[in-house]
Parts: sequence; structure tokens; C-alpha cells
Amino acid sequence: MKNCCVIGLGYIGLPTALLVAKSGFKVLGIDINPKIIELLNSGEIHIVEPGLINLLKEVRSSGLFEASAMPCESDVFIIAVPTPFKNNGSTIPEPDISYVIKAIQSITPYIRKDNLIILESTSPVGTTKIVQEEIIQNTSLLENEINIAYCPERVLPGNIIHELVHNDRVIGGLNEKASKVTKNFYSNFCKGRFYLTDSKMAELVKLTENSYRDVNIAFANEMSIICDSYDLNVYKLIDLCNQHPRVNILKPGCGVGGHCIAVDPWFIISRNLDKANLIRMGREVNLNKTKFVIEKITKTAKSLEEKLNRKPKIACLGLTFKPDIDDLRESPAMQITKELISKGLLIYPCDPYIPKDSDIDNYSLEFILKNVDFFVVLVAHSQFKEISLKEKCYLDFCGIFDG
Ligand SMILES: NC(=O)c1ccc[n+]([C@@H]2O[C@H](COP(=O)([O-])OP(=O)(O)OC[C@H]3O[C@@H](n4cnc5c(N)ncnc54)[C@H](O)[C@@H]3O)[C@@H](O)[C@H]2O)c1
Repeated sequence: MKNCCVIGLGYIGLPTALLVAKSGFKVLGIDINPKIIELLNSGEIHIVEPGLINLLKEVRSSGLFEASAMPCESDVFIIAVPTPFKNNGSTIPEPDISYVIKAIQSITPYIRKDNLIILESTSPVGTTKIVQEEIIQNTSLLENEINIAYCPERVLPGNIIHELVHNDRVIGGLNEKASKVTKNFYSNFCKGRFYLTDSKMAELVKLTENSYRDVNIAFANEMSIICDSYDLNVYKLIDLCNQHPRVNILKPGCGVGGHCIAVDPWFIISRNLDKANLIRMGREVNLNKTKFVIEKITKTAKSLEEKLNRKPKIACLGLTFKPDIDDLRESPAMQITKELISKGLLIYPCDPYIPKDSDIDNYSLEFILKNVDFFVVLVAHSQFKEISLKEKCYLDFCGIFDG
């Protein structure tokens, strides 16, 4: 039986580790967070993702998965640690690959000849090569004695298990052999097609995909601001435009969140300051949409205050960065809610998905419906689609009621 070590047991690493285990590998999942290890080894999970808990039960009962703080010798190592950005006092955020480097340093003592090392963390162009240099410098291994590849993830939170198995994958080995070995490995649990290329291309593919999404959402967000100035419904506008056989405008929202689309474009921009003009503009438009939403809510609250002769109670519906998940990373809805609170408005946040230990008050939908004056719809959670805001004062920034 072959062994696999998965470093980083978050939204990507944990489902991947469990699927690799289900395919017959003995998997050791590694994380620096002791709480995660304790939870997983007692059969519980720390993230909301459909089907994940059952998968964990299945592979634990067959003895194929265990979590630990310490890596071990393995045939395959998968790196799925965060790659956030850092500001460094500049207006252009820089990629932070320190987690990747630390993860590599933690496995280096266990890497042997013919091992396969796969980087799944979204990374700036050139990171896979840096990974190789880090290993070569700290072991007696030669470049052609280990297989290293970059293989980006394209999964959608909420549907991760299905997409890990069925999505097509781009595999970028540092050489042809590494790409082939990586393809063979993924063939154990993936049913999608494999596209083999080199590591630099695969790194830029991932960044390009997310920048493309960001720029396209920016277009929808810009049109939503323009529609507001004409007092027109942007969802109707987009619906009518999309009747054109070659037009497909995305939906606007209260900004762009998550640690992928809101982050990855900076990995291109920061390294191509004089070239990445459209990508940079897209990022700025999406950041400005969040500011626009805050201003719009503040203005409406002010006129309501004059009408009621008291501060209105305002519900912020949704805090996560997208519908029907518990992920708050880079969430514009959370940023809006916190900023409105800091402006002294009477805000009642309501999100059925956020963890109990979150640092913000969270009111039930029942309470909100009975007690507030003004509803701000920030995230299109399914639960919100069940309610009616007819004859209530509301602003819908995600198209549940106005779409
Ligand atoms: N979540 C997604 O939908 C998604 C999609 C595509 C790509 N990605 C990329 O995948 C990577 C991981 O994302 P995620 O959402 O799983 O992140 P996450 O924050 O959910 O999980 C990362 C885990 O890594 C652990 N960790 C950090 N440093 C470590 C180290 N040195 N050793 C062991 N564990 C360590 C953290 O404790 C955390 O549990 C990122 O680069 C992200 O951009 C994520």
C-alpha cells in the first residue's frame, strides 16, 4: 500500500486527503492547528462542506486516514496551505508564500528518491521552482531524483467533493516525467481530463482563471452602479442583455470575496505593474463596489431616521463571502457589516452559516423579521429566498428579491 502526506487540512487539503484515502492510499493529514487534528481524530470536522463528514467516517473506519502535527516518510506529498497576500505598506498587495516554504521545510527531512511532491496552493509564477530549490538545497537529492508538480484546484466550495473528482485538471510538472507521475497519481481518484504542461504555465493558468472571473464580475458591478444612477434595475438590464446570443454578463454583488478571486489577481498585478492594467482596474472596481454599498446603506438609513424620528434597526442578511457556505475570508458582506457598526448604525447581522465562535453578533431570521425596520440583503443564502420582504424597506445587493 502506498502512503500520502497532505500538508494543510483546510477546504482543499482535507477533502483531497480523504479522497486519496478512499482510493486506497494510507493518508497522514498534517496541520499546524492542534484543534483541527484533535477534531479530525475524534471523527469531527471544522468546516462546512456537504458529504465531508461521511467521507471522514468512511476512511477512518477503514484505517486509511489519520491527522497529525508531524509529517512522515511518504510516496506522495501534497501541499495545500494558504497563500494569502501581504500589504507591506504598499497599495499593491504582494503574494505571501511563507506558508508554502514552511510546509516544504517541514517535509524536507522525510523526502526520499522518487517521491512525488505536488503543490496545490494557488501560487505566483515561479513558486514550484522555488519549492524544488528549497528541497535540493536541504537534501542530498538531485533534481531528477524527485518529481515535483504544480496542480491547481478549481473547486467550488459547497460542491468540493464532486468537483475534486470530476473537474478537469491542469498538471504542470517541473519536467515531463513529473507531469506523467502526477497524472498517474490523480488518476486514482479523478475522473476529469488531465492537461499536462509545465509548472510556470500551470501557475499562470490558475491566476488567469481567477483574474478573468474578477474582471467579469467587475463589469457587472460597474453596471450595477451605473443602473443605480439611472434608477434602473441592474438584474433586468443584465437579463435583457443576456438574450443576445453572444453576451453573458455575470451577476453583480456587494463586492468580491473569498481568498481566491479577491486575492489571486494581485499575484499577477504585483509582478506586472506596468502591464496588468485591466486586471488592476477590475480589482479596484470590485473594491469600490463595496464602498458604494456602504454609502448607499448609510444614506438610506439617514433618510429613514428622519422619517422614524429614531435610529432605524437595520438587518444585514448574510456575512459570508458567497451563498450557502460558512467561509468569511475576505468577505465584503462582513466588511460592510463591520463598517456600518463602526459608523454607529443599529446593525443586526444575520447569517445561518457562520460559526458560533465568530467575533460578531448573529441574530436569527425569525428575530430579524419581527424586529427590524430596514433589510440589507448582502448574500443570497437559500434560507433568505424563503422569506418575503414585500412592503418592507430593503436594499437587495445580490438579486434575491430584485433579480
Ligand atoms: N478553498 C478554495 O475554494 C480554493 C480553491 C482553489 C484553490 N485554493 C487554494 O488552496 C490553498 C489552500 O486553501 P484552503 O481554502 O484549503 O485554505 P484553509 O485556510 O482552509 O486551509 C489551510 C490549512 O493549512 C494549515 N497550515 C498552514 N500552514 C501550515 C503548515 N506549515 N503545515 C501544515 N498545515 C499548515 C492551516 O492551519 C489550515 O488548516 C490556497 O492556496 C488557496 O488559494 C483554495
